[in-house]
Amino acid sequence: MQPANNPLPHLDDWDDFVKSRYQEGRAESEYRDHSTDTHPCVTEFYRLNHRFQTVDFVLAKEKEYGSLSRSPQGVWSAMEYLNTLIDDSDPDTDVPQLEHLLQTSEAIRKDGCPRWFVLAGLVHDLGKLLCLYGEPQWAVVGDTFPVGCAWAGDIVFRPFFEANPDSGVPEYQTRLGIYSENCGLDQVHLAWGHDEYIYRVMRPYLPAEALYMLRYHSFYPAHQHGAYDYLMNGDDRKMFEWVRKFSKYDLYSKGGERPDVPALRPYYEDLIAEFLPAELAW
Ligand SMILES: [Fe+2]
Ligand SMILES: [Fe+2]
Repeated sequence: MQPANNPLPHLDDWDDFVKSRYQEGRAESEYRDHSTDTHPCVTEFYRLNHRFQTVDFVLAKEKEYGSLSRSPQGVWSAMEYLNTLIDDSDPDTDVPQLEHLLQTSEAIRKDGCPRWFVLAGLVHDLGKLLCLYGEPQWAVVGDTFPVGCAWAGDIVFRPFFEANPDSGVPEYQTRLGIYSENCGLDQVHLAWGHDEYIYRVMRPYLPAEALYMLRYHSFYPAHQHGAYDYLMNGDDRKMFEWVRKFSKYDLYSKGGERPDVPALRPYYEDLIAEFLPAELAW
């Protein structure tokens, strides 16, 4: 990994920053100002993310990964592969990726949610495999936002967009940009990252509610702040109830009891086999 492209010591540092922003009970006004309490690595991460996520970049990545032409792999094997992202030098502060997936899915399961919801929890961050394919951190994680229209005021570290080349394209700087009123989010290109990638991998197999959770779980400007409502249609608004429901498990299950991976594996192998083929196209 090139350090300049990857300022976060761990990919999890972005997730931890989001969690600290949306601490339960914290008022919106309290998390508006990130200038004083944000780690410089996280600030640098957003500087790069906002500088480089352009319309051209997003369209190129959608094309590159849209064909799902990487080696077929099963879900459990993908989870173990993703786990190699963990840096052993800091075992106390980082939850391995596989444990975060299981903590999320177990929290959903304990609440008696449908099985497809549990499975969505299990796979939701597998798109972070992009990092292992050599993508820079700013093209894997980060709050997502539409490209090709004006950046909403609710996007974290918004001033960094001044350095984005799209700021000089008048067509991209109007409220609707390249989209039309209430066109539906399916027509909208969001910043490229792990959400869109795992959505594309799982698209043939999971129900629409689960696919919304996967595709939009990092779209914090919309599901936490209500931004971009004018790009949504009625279906999107209904489905976003599921995205918000999912977000609580993603944010707040972390740091709980460490899952007993070998004991849980048989249940999850069954669950995976119920919905997904033994190997998936990535
Ligand atoms: Fe995620
Ligand atoms: Fe997550």
